[in-house]
Amino acid sequence: MIELSDVTYTYKTKYQTVNALDGVSYRFVPGRFYAVVGSSGSGKSTLLSLVAGLDTPSSGSVIFNDKDTRNLNRDKYRLEHVSVIYQSLNLFPLLTAMENVTFNLEYKGTRGSKARKLASEKLESVGIDKGKHGRRPSMLSGGEQQRVAIARALAANTEIILADEPTGSLDSQNSTNVIALLKELAASENVCLIVVTHDPEVAESADVVIRLSDGKILEIIDRADSQAYVEEELQPSTYNIAIPSPEPVNPQPQTQPRPHPQQPSQQEPIQEQLQPQPTQRRPKSTRKSAPEPITTAPATTDSEEYSLEDIMKEFGKDNW
Ligand SMILES: Nc1ncnc2c1ncn2[C@@H]1O[C@H](COP(=O)(O)OP(=O)(O)O)[C@@H](O)[C@H]1O
Ligand SMILES: [Mg+2]
Repeated sequence: MIELSDVTYTYKTKYQTVNALDGVSYRFVPGRFYAVVGSSGSGKSTLLSLVAGLDTPSSGSVIFNDKDTRNLNRDKYRLEHVSVIYQSLNLFPLLTAMENVTFNLEYKGTRGSKARKLASEKLESVGIDKGKHGRRPSMLSGGEQQRVAIARALAANTEIILADEPTGSLDSQNSTNVIALLKELAASENVCLIVVTHDPEVAESADVVIRLSDGKILEIIDRADSQAYVEEELQPSTYNIAIPSPEPVNPQPQTQPRPHPQQPSQQEPIQEQLQPQPTQRRPKSTRKSAPEPITTAPATTDSEEYSLEDIMKEFGKDNW
């Protein structure tokens, strides 16, 4: 679905050149929850921004459904196929929970009662009950605000959801709940969910953990049922570098990843291996094609004081 093929990304400043990503190849598929981990400066945010279509690689390619993102209309790609949940959430403080979700829908062309109904469903699906739909973010707890941000991403109905430290500002109970929610939604909505995180609990819950170091993939822990891999149609075009880790992300034996049949041996730390990926894990029956973007401010009944145009001017579409 979205594949990085020998991706290098170089930041050039007056004083130095930094290879933020250095020869990264990996194929992400729908219905799976990926955690991207690694120390600060290892290239996590750069990877996310390339998948988000904010930029293109210095060399190599990012391929979405067989098309190089260099050749895509990337504004359209971002609007129709990718949602981002930022650490800062970027909820509009003057809009209610409901309006924060409908705002996104209206931007994408779903308006009025249809937008409100969908927003209401998504808010309830993440555990924000009706009584709280009319509250502004400041009247919601941190965990509830995070859920609103997730509902907003869900309502966009994109195939890819990216999240940067989604549990960074939550207490442990809320963090556990949000992780469970994200995991559930990747599977039930057939979303490709890629989460950058420092939170070991997130990494333990993910289907796949990708550990970056100095712009390279240092380790991949794939918790897929290896038998399912063998049975599903294989796509032999993705090569991953996998190095057994001296410090597993999850130290508990009962949740240790099962060894992949083609896992490199412990004696050979670096080995290119063919890592087949399932093409489609389950059908996405509820997916609808995204509507065309709107270019003018719609007349909303809920937020008369703040037109879509005003808000766009103030915050800029790149801020959310
Ligand atoms: N705008 C920039 N200009 C120059 N170097 C940058 C810029 N952004 C990131 N880098 C460098 O690229 C490397 C990877 O950064 P980043 O992707 O932000 O890592 P992470 O998200 O894992 O902390 C780091 O060495 C960082 O200093
Ligand atoms: Mg970062």
